[in-house]
Amino acid sequence: MGKTLIAYFSKAGENNINGDIVKLAVGNTEVAANYIKEFIPDADMFKIDQVEPLPESYEDCFAKAKVDQSAKLRPEIKDAPESIDEYDTIFLGGPNYIETYPMAVFTFLEKYNWEGKTIKPFITHEGSSFGHAIEDITAVCKGAEIKEGLSIHGADVRGFKIFIKRWINK
Ligand SMILES: Cc1cc2nc3c(=O)[nH]c(=O)nc-3n(C[C@H](O)[C@H](O)[C@H](O)COP(=O)(O)O)c2cc1C
Repeated sequence: MGKTLIAYFSKAGENNINGDIVKLAVGNTEVAANYIKEFIPDADMFKIDQVEPLPESYEDCFAKAKVDQSAKLRPEIKDAPESIDEYDTIFLGGPNYIETYPMAVFTFLEKYNWEGKTIKPFITHEGSSFGHAIEDITAVCKGAEIKEGLSIHGADVRGFKIFIKRWINK
């Protein structure tokens, strides 16, 4: 059997949590990714990081994310794996950025052939759940089986470990 990869985007620092601007030491999606890793210790992890990071402030980040999405930008990412051939299952996570995953997630996805892969998508959000992220990854990841996703309200992620465990085993 092939290996499992946990690939995710997450941004620590300023974020909007329940309507308040707060500084997160660890991003919400990263918390979820770390829980998955606890339950699947053999999995490899890859954090999708942009070469040119998004702005630190929530407001500036939102404005930039909006422009990037309109332009269908594919920001360069750091140290992406050469191939994903060795993986059967890919847990794919990110925050909801204006109704879909951040553009850097699509930079990552578009690098590989997804034929025969199983994708388990997860997202953290402030109310929009997956938005149209599932449709968007389905369009890119041709030939992959996309399993039922896990949507987590960002503010609740730290109490979500048990639900993550149940979802992993579905
Ligand atoms: C640029 C930006 C856009 C966002 N857009 C949405 C949105 O459209 N819908 C939503 O529910 N949450 C939205 N959020 C909130 C994030 O999805 C949420 O806080 C998430 O848990 C952040 O994950 P992270 O800490 O792993 O980066 C947005 C946050 C940012 C920074």
